[in-house]
Amino acid sequence: GHANIGVVGLAVMGSNLARNLASREGNTVAVLNRSRSKTDELVGAHPEAGFVPAFSYEDFAGSLQRPRTAIIMVKAGGATDAVIEELIRVFEPGDIIVDGGNALFTDTIRREKAVRETGINFVGMGVSGGEEGALNGPSLMPGGSDESWTTLGPILRSIAAVAEGEPCVTHVGHDGAGHFVKMVHNGIEYADMQLIAEAYDLIRRGTGKSPAEIADVFAEWNRGELESYLIEITAEVLRQVDAETGRPLVDVIVDQAGAKGTGAWTVQTALSLGVPVSGIAEATFARSLSSHPEQREVSRALPGPSAESAAQALQVDDVDAFIEKIRLALYASKIVAYSQGFDEIRAGAAEYGWHIDLGRIAAIWRGGCIIRAQFLNRITEAYAATPELPVLLTAPYFVDALTRAQAAWRDVVAISARAGIPAPAFSSSLAYYDGLRAERLPAALIQGQRDFFGAHTYKRIDKAGTFHTLWSGDRTEIEAEDTH
Ligand code: 6PG
Repeated sequence: GHANIGVVGLAVMGSNLARNLASREGNTVAVLNRSRSKTDELVGAHPEAGFVPAFSYEDFAGSLQRPRTAIIMVKAGGATDAVIEELIRVFEPGDIIVDGGNALFTDTIRREKAVRETGINFVGMGVSGGEEGALNGPSLMPGGSDESWTTLGPILRSIAAVAEGEPCVTHVGHDGAGHFVKMVHNGIEYADMQLIAEAYDLIRRGTGKSPAEIADVFAEWNRGELESYLIEITAEVLRQVDAETGRPLVDVIVDQAGAKGTGAWTVQTALSLGVPVSGIAEATFARSLSSHPEQREVSRALPGPSAESAAQALQVDDVDAFIEKIRLALYASKIVAYSQGFDEIRAGAAEYGWHIDLGRIAAIWRGGCIIRAQFLNRITEAYAATPELPVLLTAPYFVDALTRAQAAWRDVVAISARAGIPAPAFSSSLAYYDGLRAERLPAALIQGQRDFFGAHTYKRIDKAGTFHTLWSGDRTEIEAEDTH
């Protein structure tokens, strides 16, 4: 065989990734799909790519040089397992199977373990950037063994997006580390999108500006510290006019947000790890809330603030100042969301024994992926200065930003509450921030309650040991065994 890389699964993502690979110097790409027609279509449409089409797994394996390297681009779940099984049948020890789908990282850990027993390498790889990224340069988050990275690294570097001269790919860590990091990327993506949506809603309902006018606001924001792909496309979406009705497209789209599960995974995993990713969770729940039309229908009659008090709360006599406050609230909440996401990666790495360079992760997200932004440079810098930084938002740059933003942030959360405009991500981010910086938390009371009803014990601020109060007796305190 003479192809140095193969792609299995030629739907849009797979085809685009195959074309990307083929367009780079030195690559010859073997392609395989379950139905023959997709392969014929791709090969026919792109003679310049020099694809090596295969119509069976045997053919496919035969067309690849050793170590054989194949990237699977099929639906996460059962389809992935089926393809892996076929590849194991025709591959040999030392070969490399890469899963480029949005797999759950625990599935990747399981698959890596099982495949490794055959002597074949298995790499779970996060791929971000959608269809366009796959074609022109995605952000790539491969896990798997060091051995597979030796072969895979140069190939992946050749197709990844480039940010400030560096390809947006790194060997994230072993087994499921790549898919874990991609999962958190998506959780942050959810938070970022929700924050932008809340900002839009507040501006619209607060100032009465049209979507096209708000598009100008976002375009303006995109020239400052909020500069990012998501802000950029927000302006484009808001500017879009529906051809059929002549109305802003955003007013014609049903207001129920879909989700394919990666945000929920981020939150579920965070709950298990005990990491408070509250901004990401609120963003995920906000999508769920939007998608229950029957509940929204029966709730429409619930009382909100009167029109006068809502108008009074919004008081947008100075529209520009109001919009600037929202911009600052968005920026502060965004810092919280990223800080929470990186906290989850840090905790995941500790739990699963991965060595993940957090600064490098921020660096490979600067290009190609959905959350790409200048802002990520600040995160790389923060971890470069303090690799073991326990809370990202305490890095000096972010402290400055939060110091500048916090008064406006509080105003915006208060205004939204008084006006009856939901801003779950703005408010939960602020609550997280205030929770973190609190000198004392009412967690002490929770401990008292737990000890009261379940003798769960507590610790004291003034001496070592574990204590229990005899609540149902004479209420004296005894030393207790530590039962948490
Ligand atoms: C990416 C995206 C990509 C996909 C999301 C969408 O990084 O390229 O995150 O993976 O668009 O899975 O997720 P939802 O359908 O759940 O919004």
